[in-house]
Amino acid sequence: MKILGIESSCDETAASVCSNGKILSNVIATQAIHEKYGGVVPELASRAHHKTITQTVDQALSESGVLLKDIDAIAVAQGPGLMGSLLVGISFAKGLAISQKIPIIGVNHIEAHMYANFIEHEESYPAVSLIVSGGHTRLVHLKAAFNHRLLGKTRDDAAGEAFDKIGKILKLPYPAGPIVDELSKTGDPEFYSFPRSMMNQGLDFSFSGLKTSVLYYTRKQEEGYVENHINDICASVSAAITDVLIVKLKRAVKKTGVKTVMLAGGVSANSMLREKAEYMADELEIRLLIPAFEYCTDNAAMIAITGSLKAREGLFDDLSLRPFARME
Ligand code: KG4
Ligand code: ZN
Repeated sequence: MKILGIESSCDETAASVCSNGKILSNVIATQAIHEKYGGVVPELASRAHHKTITQTVDQALSESGVLLKDIDAIAVAQGPGLMGSLLVGISFAKGLAISQKIPIIGVNHIEAHMYANFIEHEESYPAVSLIVSGGHTRLVHLKAAFNHRLLGKTRDDAAGEAFDKIGKILKLPYPAGPIVDELSKTGDPEFYSFPRSMMNQGLDFSFSGLKTSVLYYTRKQEEGYVENHINDICASVSAAITDVLIVKLKRAVKKTGVKTVMLAGGVSANSMLREKAEYMADELEIRLLIPAFEYCTDNAAMIAITGSLKAREGLFDDLSLRPFARME
């Protein structure tokens, strides 16, 4: 089964070809235009998708060596995401599906982040997935393929959003997550103890208190102090965020009794989180899956692989497929 995957839910225009579960190409056009605004501007995102989608899909096909006429189905991100951005990908996918007379498969972007783990690893159920991205922070119990239960989620900011917003307070460029990660590597995580919210209760998260705490902390320092200690401050922020994520993940593992844990989403590229998750997996003697770096942040390979798993389960859509800005 040859699947063409298309992703356009936020600010990356991406396309990928997957053949019998193997990724043959993975092309991503990142929209640099949002950097100067310090966040994604929805109208500019949809215009940029519109401009680059044809070329991105063409490139994914030619890099894979598969001809469009040999594609069996088109998988496309259906939501959650920015409505204008989703519409570009879905309309394009429908056009291709009509022209080639092939089925279309709508893919939940968050599910796709989880299934990105199965690009390089064997499928493994039951499992718990910690999904940490710019828009979502969730703990999900995967009982079987496409049989999930939400265990907990953030009540305010997502983990990636916390990294990005705190980075902005620290005057770092957008998106700050990877930069905070890099600076943390040479900083002291115990330099300052930022708050870790809701550590002792449940499986929900909250990161807005941490953001406010960093804001007040930086305001009360003398000029130049934050810049001079940026690595230590970043390491302390990373420690606070990852401590909370790991405590909750561990609680979810104990509650469900699963033997497999999967990290997913952009923040799963974070080195401190990966290190702590590995330590936790050793301690609990469970299996830990983490996608390769290129499959952690938004990409179309995760859409293509999820599409091929859905095809295997017979979960096809038709041309009435429509985008959802919010999607459970
Ligand atoms: O999954 P993703 O590409 O897009 C969404 O669906 O949101 O995640 C993007 C988020 C951004 O907030 C970005 O700052 C964060 O992932 N991120 C990181 C790292 N790499 C990406 N956060 C912390 N450490 C990283 N290495
Ligand atoms: Zn994402």
